[in-house]
Amino acid sequence: MKVGVLGATGMVGQRFIEILDKHPDFEICSLLASSKSAGKRYEDATTWYLENPMPEYVKDIVVSETDPNTVDSDVEIIFSSLPTEFAKVVEPKFGENFIVASNASAMRMIDDIPLVIPEVNPEFLDLVEIQQKNRGWDGFIVTNPNCSTIALTLTLKPIHDNYNINRVYVSTMQAVSGAGYNGVPSMAIVDNLIPFIDGEEEKMENETLHILGTIKDTRVKRADFNLSASCNRVAVLDGHTESVFIELDEDIDILDMKNTMSNFKSLPQELNLFSAPKNPIIISENENRPQPRMDRNAEGGMSVTVGRLRKDDICNKSFKYTLVGHNTIRGAAGASILNAELIVKKLL
Ligand SMILES: NC(=O)c1ccc[n+]([C@@H]2O[C@H](COP(=O)([O-])OP(=O)(O)OC[C@H]3O[C@@H](n4cnc5c(N)ncnc54)[C@H](OP(=O)(O)O)[C@@H]3O)[C@@H](O)[C@H]2O)c1
Repeated sequence: MKVGVLGATGMVGQRFIEILDKHPDFEICSLLASSKSAGKRYEDATTWYLENPMPEYVKDIVVSETDPNTVDSDVEIIFSSLPTEFAKVVEPKFGENFIVASNASAMRMIDDIPLVIPEVNPEFLDLVEIQQKNRGWDGFIVTNPNCSTIALTLTLKPIHDNYNINRVYVSTMQAVSGAGYNGVPSMAIVDNLIPFIDGEEEKMENETLHILGTIKDTRVKRADFNLSASCNRVAVLDGHTESVFIELDEDIDILDMKNTMSNFKSLPQELNLFSAPKNPIIISENENRPQPRMDRNAEGGMSVTVGRLRKDDICNKSFKYTLVGHNTIRGAAGASILNAELIVKKLL
Protein backbone atom coordinates (compact mmCIF):
# COMPACT_ATOMS: atom_id res chain seq x y z
CA MET A 1 0.00 0.00 0.00
CA LYS A 2 1.21 3.49 -0.81
CA VAL A 3 1.49 5.85 2.14
CA GLY A 4 2.24 9.50 2.88
CA VAL A 5 3.73 11.18 5.98
CA LEU A 6 2.59 14.55 7.38
CA GLY A 7 5.25 16.36 9.45
CA ALA A 8 7.81 14.25 7.57
CA THR A 9 10.81 16.45 8.43
CA GLY A 10 10.26 16.36 12.23
CA MET A 11 11.45 13.98 14.96
CA VAL A 12 8.53 11.60 14.63
CA GLY A 13 8.40 12.04 10.83
CA GLN A 14 11.99 10.79 10.62
CA ARG A 15 11.13 7.73 12.70
CA PHE A 16 8.26 7.01 10.28
CA ILE A 17 10.72 7.11 7.40
CA GLU A 18 13.26 4.91 9.20
CA ILE A 19 10.69 2.25 10.16
CA LEU A 20 8.79 2.31 6.86
CA ASP A 21 12.05 1.85 4.93
CA LYS A 22 12.03 -1.82 5.98
CA HIS A 23 8.27 -2.35 5.95
CA PRO A 24 7.02 -5.18 3.72
CA ASP A 25 3.52 -3.74 3.08
CA PHE A 26 3.79 0.08 3.17
CA GLU A 27 5.68 2.17 0.63
CA ILE A 28 6.26 5.91 1.13
CA CYS A 29 5.17 8.00 -1.86
CA SER A 30 4.37 11.43 -0.43
CA LEU A 31 6.22 13.48 2.19
CA LEU A 32 4.54 16.64 3.47
CA ALA A 33 5.65 19.43 5.84
CA SER A 34 5.31 23.19 6.31
CA SER A 35 5.63 25.80 3.55
CA LYS A 36 9.22 26.34 4.79
CA SER A 37 10.12 22.84 3.52
CA ALA A 38 7.68 22.48 0.61
CA GLY A 39 9.31 22.41 -2.81
CA LYS A 40 12.68 21.22 -1.46
CA ARG A 41 14.23 17.74 -1.80
CA TYR A 42 13.67 15.84 1.45
CA GLU A 43 17.42 15.72 2.10
CA ASP A 44 17.71 19.51 1.77
CA ALA A 45 14.63 20.21 3.89
CA THR A 46 15.59 18.00 6.84
CA THR A 47 18.04 18.13 9.74
CA TRP A 48 18.40 14.33 10.09
CA TYR A 49 18.95 13.37 13.72
CA LEU A 50 18.74 9.56 13.71
CA GLU A 51 21.82 7.33 14.04
CA ASN A 52 20.88 5.25 10.98
CA PRO A 53 21.53 7.20 7.78
CA MET A 54 18.65 8.72 5.83
CA PRO A 55 17.31 6.03 3.45
CA GLU A 56 18.48 6.72 -0.12
CA TYR A 57 15.05 6.56 -1.72
CA VAL A 58 13.57 9.46 0.30
CA LYS A 59 16.41 11.91 -0.37
CA ASP A 60 15.06 13.02 -3.75
CA ILE A 61 11.36 13.06 -2.89
CA VAL A 62 10.18 16.66 -3.14
CA VAL A 63 8.38 17.73 0.04
CA SER A 64 4.82 18.94 -0.57
CA GLU A 65 2.58 21.48 1.13
CA THR A 66 0.31 19.87 3.74
CA ASP A 67 -2.82 19.73 1.60
CA PRO A 68 -4.76 16.60 0.53
CA ASN A 69 -4.59 17.77 -3.10
CA THR A 70 -0.79 17.45 -3.17
CA VAL A 71 -0.87 13.73 -2.27
CA ASP A 72 -0.35 11.10 -5.00
CA SER A 73 -3.74 9.71 -6.01
CA ASP A 74 -2.81 6.09 -5.27
CA VAL A 75 -1.87 6.82 -1.63
CA GLU A 76 -4.25 5.06 0.81
CA ILE A 77 -2.76 5.68 4.28
CA ILE A 78 -1.55 8.98 5.73
CA PHE A 79 0.65 8.92 8.84
CA SER A 80 0.47 12.19 10.74
CA SER A 81 3.08 13.73 13.03
CA LEU A 82 1.85 17.30 12.84
CA PRO A 83 1.90 19.81 15.69
CA THR A 84 -1.42 19.55 17.49
CA GLU A 85 -2.82 23.02 16.66
CA PHE A 86 -2.30 22.39 12.96
CA ALA A 87 -3.44 18.75 13.07
CA LYS A 88 -6.81 19.88 14.42
CA VAL A 89 -7.53 21.85 11.25
CA VAL A 90 -5.79 19.65 8.70
CA GLU A 91 -6.34 16.01 9.72
CA PRO A 92 -10.14 16.14 9.15
CA LYS A 93 -9.48 17.29 5.56
CA PHE A 94 -7.31 14.21 4.99
CA GLY A 95 -9.82 12.00 6.84
CA GLU A 96 -12.44 12.70 4.17
CA ASN A 97 -10.66 10.41 1.70
CA PHE A 98 -7.64 8.77 3.35
CA ILE A 99 -7.01 6.45 6.28
CA VAL A 100 -5.24 8.75 8.75
CA ALA A 101 -3.12 7.18 11.52
CA SER A 102 -2.24 10.11 13.77
CA ASN A 103 0.15 10.86 16.61
CA ALA A 104 -1.20 14.30 17.33
CA SER A 105 -3.35 14.90 20.40
CA ALA A 106 -5.87 17.14 18.60
CA MET A 107 -8.53 14.48 17.88
CA ARG A 108 -7.71 11.81 20.51
CA MET A 109 -10.55 12.45 22.95
CA ILE A 110 -13.36 13.03 20.40
CA ASP A 111 -16.20 10.51 20.81
CA ASP A 112 -16.15 9.01 17.31
CA ILE A 113 -12.33 8.97 16.88
CA PRO A 114 -10.70 5.72 18.08
CA LEU A 115 -7.73 6.19 20.42
CA VAL A 116 -6.01 2.83 20.09
CA ILE A 117 -3.11 0.74 21.35
CA PRO A 118 -3.50 -2.53 19.42
CA GLU A 119 -2.55 -4.74 22.39
CA VAL A 120 -4.91 -2.90 24.73
CA ASN A 121 -8.16 -1.85 23.02
CA PRO A 122 -8.32 -3.07 19.39
CA GLU A 123 -12.12 -3.18 19.72
CA PHE A 124 -12.19 0.65 19.68
CA LEU A 125 -11.74 0.38 15.89
CA ASP A 126 -15.51 -0.31 15.85
CA LEU A 127 -15.90 3.47 16.21
CA VAL A 128 -14.64 3.91 12.64
CA GLU A 129 -18.01 2.91 11.20
CA ILE A 130 -19.77 5.48 13.42
CA GLN A 131 -17.21 8.13 12.48
CA GLN A 132 -17.72 7.60 8.76
CA LYS A 133 -21.50 7.69 9.21
CA ASN A 134 -21.42 10.84 11.39
CA ARG A 135 -19.12 12.71 9.05
CA GLY A 136 -20.01 11.29 5.63
CA TRP A 137 -16.32 10.46 5.00
CA ASP A 138 -14.87 7.75 2.77
CA GLY A 139 -11.71 7.80 4.88
CA PHE A 140 -11.31 7.96 8.67
CA ILE A 141 -8.96 8.96 11.48
CA VAL A 142 -7.47 6.62 14.11
CA THR A 143 -5.17 8.08 16.78
CA ASN A 144 -2.56 6.70 19.16
CA PRO A 145 -1.98 8.09 22.65
CA ASN A 146 0.93 10.24 23.72
CA CYS A 147 4.33 8.67 24.29
CA SER A 148 4.33 8.36 28.08
CA THR A 149 0.72 7.11 28.12
CA ILE A 150 1.43 4.26 25.68
CA ALA A 151 4.24 2.81 27.79
CA LEU A 152 2.26 3.09 31.03
CA THR A 153 -0.99 1.72 29.59
CA LEU A 154 0.69 -1.30 28.01
CA THR A 155 1.99 -2.31 31.46
CA LEU A 156 -1.35 -1.59 33.18
CA LYS A 157 -3.42 -3.66 30.73
CA PRO A 158 -2.64 -7.16 32.13
CA ILE A 159 -2.97 -5.82 35.69
CA HIS A 160 -6.32 -4.20 34.92
CA ASP A 161 -7.54 -7.42 33.25
CA ASN A 162 -6.58 -9.65 36.21
CA TYR A 163 -6.94 -7.52 39.37
CA ASN A 164 -8.98 -4.58 40.62
CA ILE A 165 -6.87 -1.43 40.56
CA ASN A 166 -7.75 1.20 43.18
CA ARG A 167 -5.22 3.84 42.28
CA VAL A 168 -2.07 4.47 40.27
CA TYR A 169 0.59 7.12 40.83
CA VAL A 170 3.17 7.67 38.12
CA SER A 171 6.18 9.95 37.97
CA THR A 172 7.90 10.29 34.57
CA MET A 173 11.44 11.15 33.46
CA GLN A 174 10.93 11.99 29.78
CA ALA A 175 13.50 12.29 27.01
CA VAL A 176 14.11 15.55 25.15
CA SER A 177 13.15 14.05 21.76
CA GLY A 178 9.58 13.95 23.12
CA ALA A 179 9.41 17.71 22.68
CA GLY A 180 10.41 17.71 19.01
CA TYR A 181 13.62 18.92 17.35
CA ASN A 182 13.25 22.55 18.45
CA GLY A 183 11.46 21.66 21.67
CA VAL A 184 13.84 22.06 24.62
CA PRO A 185 16.87 24.39 24.30
CA SER A 186 20.16 22.73 25.30
CA MET A 187 20.84 25.59 27.76
CA ALA A 188 17.65 24.66 29.59
CA ILE A 189 18.20 20.90 29.87
CA VAL A 190 21.94 20.04 30.01
CA ASP A 191 22.96 19.50 33.66
CA ASN A 192 19.31 19.93 34.58
CA LEU A 193 15.79 18.54 35.00
CA ILE A 194 12.56 20.42 34.29
CA PRO A 195 9.64 19.37 36.52
CA PHE A 196 6.92 20.48 34.10
CA ILE A 197 5.73 19.39 30.64
CA ASP A 198 2.82 21.45 29.44
CA GLY A 199 -0.40 19.38 29.24
CA GLU A 200 1.39 16.04 29.75
CA GLU A 201 -0.05 15.11 33.15
CA GLU A 202 -3.62 15.76 31.98
CA LYS A 203 -2.99 13.69 28.82
CA MET A 204 -1.62 10.74 30.83
CA GLU A 205 -4.50 10.83 33.31
CA ASN A 206 -7.27 11.17 30.69
CA GLU A 207 -5.92 9.02 27.87
CA THR A 208 -4.96 6.05 30.09
CA LEU A 209 -8.43 5.76 31.66
CA HIS A 210 -10.05 6.26 28.24
CA ILE A 211 -8.05 3.47 26.57
CA LEU A 212 -8.61 1.06 29.47
CA GLY A 213 -12.34 1.83 29.32
CA THR A 214 -15.11 0.11 27.39
CA ILE A 215 -17.39 1.14 24.56
CA LYS A 216 -20.95 1.58 25.76
CA ASP A 217 -23.73 2.81 23.47
CA THR A 218 -21.19 4.05 20.88
CA ARG A 219 -19.28 6.09 23.51
CA VAL A 220 -16.24 5.31 25.62
CA LYS A 221 -16.88 4.68 29.32
CA ARG A 222 -13.61 5.34 31.18
CA ALA A 223 -11.95 2.84 33.51
CA ASP A 224 -12.93 3.74 37.05
CA PHE A 225 -9.70 3.80 39.09
CA ASN A 226 -7.79 6.92 40.14
CA LEU A 227 -4.62 7.93 38.34
CA SER A 228 -2.28 10.76 39.23
CA ALA A 229 0.73 11.71 37.06
CA SER A 230 3.73 13.92 37.66
CA CYS A 231 5.87 14.59 34.57
CA ASN A 232 9.51 15.67 34.29
CA ARG A 233 11.83 16.39 31.37
CA VAL A 234 15.35 14.98 31.77
CA ALA A 235 18.60 15.18 29.80
CA VAL A 236 18.12 11.86 27.95
CA LEU A 237 17.87 11.84 24.14
CA ASP A 238 15.38 8.99 23.58
CA GLY A 239 13.40 6.75 25.94
CA HIS A 240 10.95 7.69 28.65
CA THR A 241 11.39 6.26 32.16
CA GLU A 242 8.41 6.05 34.54
CA SER A 243 8.15 5.12 38.24
CA VAL A 244 4.78 3.50 38.80
CA PHE A 245 3.02 2.89 42.16
CA ILE A 246 -0.16 0.79 42.16
CA GLU A 247 -2.66 -0.02 44.88
CA LEU A 248 -5.02 -2.94 44.28
CA ASP A 249 -8.02 -3.91 46.39
CA GLU A 250 -6.44 -7.26 47.32
CA ASP A 251 -3.18 -8.63 48.64
CA ILE A 252 -0.96 -9.79 45.78
CA ASP A 253 1.82 -12.25 45.30
CA ILE A 254 4.61 -10.44 43.47
CA LEU A 255 5.59 -13.60 41.54
CA ASP A 256 2.03 -13.91 40.23
CA MET A 257 2.17 -10.27 39.17
CA LYS A 258 5.51 -10.83 37.42
CA ASN A 259 4.05 -13.78 35.49
CA THR A 260 0.88 -11.88 34.64
CA MET A 261 2.92 -9.06 33.12
CA SER A 262 5.60 -11.08 31.35
CA ASN A 263 3.08 -13.54 29.81
CA PHE A 264 0.97 -10.73 28.39
CA LYS A 265 0.24 -11.14 24.69
CA SER A 266 -2.65 -9.81 22.69
CA LEU A 267 -4.26 -9.50 19.25
CA PRO A 268 -1.20 -8.06 17.37
CA GLN A 269 0.86 -11.05 18.53
CA GLU A 270 -1.93 -13.49 17.55
CA LEU A 271 -2.26 -11.85 14.13
CA ASN A 272 1.53 -11.79 13.81
CA LEU A 273 1.49 -8.13 12.73
CA PHE A 274 4.83 -7.06 11.28
CA SER A 275 5.60 -4.37 13.91
CA ALA A 276 4.19 -6.28 16.88
CA PRO A 277 6.85 -7.21 19.46
CA LYS A 278 6.85 -10.85 20.53
CA ASN A 279 6.75 -9.64 24.14
CA PRO A 280 4.98 -6.31 24.64
CA ILE A 281 6.30 -6.26 28.24
CA ILE A 282 9.81 -7.49 29.06
CA ILE A 283 10.56 -8.05 32.74
CA SER A 284 14.13 -7.28 33.73
CA GLU A 285 15.49 -9.07 36.79
CA ASN A 286 18.57 -6.85 36.99
CA GLU A 287 18.36 -4.58 40.04
CA ASN A 288 19.58 -1.46 38.21
CA ARG A 289 17.44 -1.79 35.09
CA PRO A 290 15.61 -0.64 33.07
CA GLN A 291 17.73 2.27 31.87
CA PRO A 292 16.86 4.35 28.78
CA ARG A 293 20.21 3.90 27.00
CA MET A 294 20.22 0.13 27.59
CA ASP A 295 16.55 -0.78 27.20
CA ARG A 296 14.79 1.69 24.89
CA ASN A 297 15.52 -0.38 21.76
CA ALA A 298 14.09 -3.65 23.12
CA GLU A 299 12.43 -5.56 20.23
CA GLY A 300 13.11 -2.73 17.80
CA GLY A 301 11.86 -0.14 20.31
CA MET A 302 8.37 -1.70 20.39
CA SER A 303 8.55 -3.45 23.80
CA VAL A 304 8.32 -1.76 27.18
CA THR A 305 10.87 -2.97 29.73
CA VAL A 306 9.74 -3.26 33.35
CA GLY A 307 12.15 -3.68 36.24
CA ARG A 308 12.35 -3.29 40.00
CA LEU A 309 8.93 -4.93 40.35
CA ARG A 310 8.43 -5.20 44.09
CA LYS A 311 5.94 -4.91 46.90
CA ASP A 312 5.50 -1.55 48.53
CA ASP A 313 6.17 -1.83 52.26
CA ILE A 314 3.53 0.74 53.19
CA CYS A 315 0.65 -1.60 52.29
CA ASN A 316 0.38 -5.29 51.29
CA LYS A 317 -2.04 -4.35 48.49
CA SER A 318 0.53 -2.03 46.88
CA PHE A 319 3.47 -2.62 44.58
CA LYS A 320 5.75 -0.56 42.39
CA TYR A 321 7.97 -0.80 39.33
CA THR A 322 10.03 1.22 36.86
CA LEU A 323 9.47 1.11 33.11
CA VAL A 324 11.30 2.33 30.01
CA GLY A 325 9.66 2.75 26.59
CA HIS A 326 11.00 4.31 23.39
CA ASN A 327 9.05 7.54 22.98
CA THR A 328 9.44 8.12 19.24
CA ILE A 329 9.07 4.42 18.29
CA ARG A 330 6.59 2.62 20.62
CA GLY A 331 5.35 6.04 21.77
CA ALA A 332 4.85 7.61 18.34
CA ALA A 333 5.75 6.41 14.81
CA GLY A 334 5.84 2.68 15.64
CA ALA A 335 2.48 3.05 17.42
CA SER A 336 0.81 4.60 14.35
CA ILE A 337 2.31 1.99 12.05
CA LEU A 338 1.08 -0.86 14.29
CA ASN A 339 -2.37 0.79 14.29
CA ALA A 340 -2.28 0.89 10.48
CA GLU A 341 -1.30 -2.80 10.32
CA LEU A 342 -4.26 -3.65 12.56
CA ILE A 343 -6.59 -1.50 10.44
CA VAL A 344 -5.48 -3.29 7.27
CA LYS A 345 -6.06 -6.68 8.89
CA LYS A 346 -9.38 -5.89 10.58
CA LEU A 347 -11.12 -3.23 8.49
CA LEU A 348 -10.02 -3.46 4.84
N1 LIG B 1 8.39 13.36 19.79
C1 LIG B 1 7.66 12.44 20.41
O1 LIG B 1 8.19 11.61 21.19
C2 LIG B 1 6.17 12.38 20.21
C3 LIG B 1 5.50 11.30 20.76
C4 LIG B 1 4.11 11.20 20.58
C5 LIG B 1 3.46 12.17 19.86
N2 LIG B 1 4.13 13.24 19.33
C6 LIG B 1 3.36 14.23 18.56
O2 LIG B 1 3.77 14.15 17.17
C7 LIG B 1 3.67 15.44 16.59
C8 LIG B 1 5.02 15.81 15.98
O3 LIG B 1 6.02 15.84 16.97
P1 LIG B 1 7.57 15.97 16.62
O4 LIG B 1 8.26 15.69 17.89
O5 LIG B 1 7.90 15.18 15.41
O6 LIG B 1 7.67 17.56 16.23
P2 LIG B 1 8.77 18.33 15.36
O7 LIG B 1 10.09 17.65 15.41
O8 LIG B 1 8.70 19.75 15.80
O9 LIG B 1 8.22 18.23 13.85
C9 LIG B 1 7.07 18.92 13.42
C10 LIG B 1 6.77 18.59 11.97
O10 LIG B 1 5.54 19.25 11.60
C11 LIG B 1 5.80 20.12 10.49
N3 LIG B 1 5.03 21.36 10.63
C12 LIG B 1 5.15 22.32 11.59
N4 LIG B 1 4.25 23.32 11.40
C13 LIG B 1 3.58 22.98 10.28
C14 LIG B 1 2.55 23.61 9.53
N5 LIG B 1 2.02 24.79 9.89
N6 LIG B 1 2.10 23.00 8.41
C15 LIG B 1 2.60 21.79 8.03
N7 LIG B 1 3.58 21.15 8.68
C16 LIG B 1 4.05 21.73 9.81
C17 LIG B 1 7.29 20.41 10.51
O11 LIG B 1 7.71 20.77 9.20
P3 LIG B 1 8.91 21.83 8.91
O12 LIG B 1 10.19 21.09 9.14
O13 LIG B 1 8.68 22.17 7.49
O14 LIG B 1 8.70 22.97 9.87
C18 LIG B 1 7.83 19.06 10.98
O15 LIG B 1 7.85 18.17 9.89
C19 LIG B 1 3.20 16.40 17.70
O16 LIG B 1 1.81 16.53 17.62
C20 LIG B 1 3.63 15.67 18.97
O17 LIG B 1 2.85 16.06 20.07
C21 LIG B 1 5.48 13.35 19.48
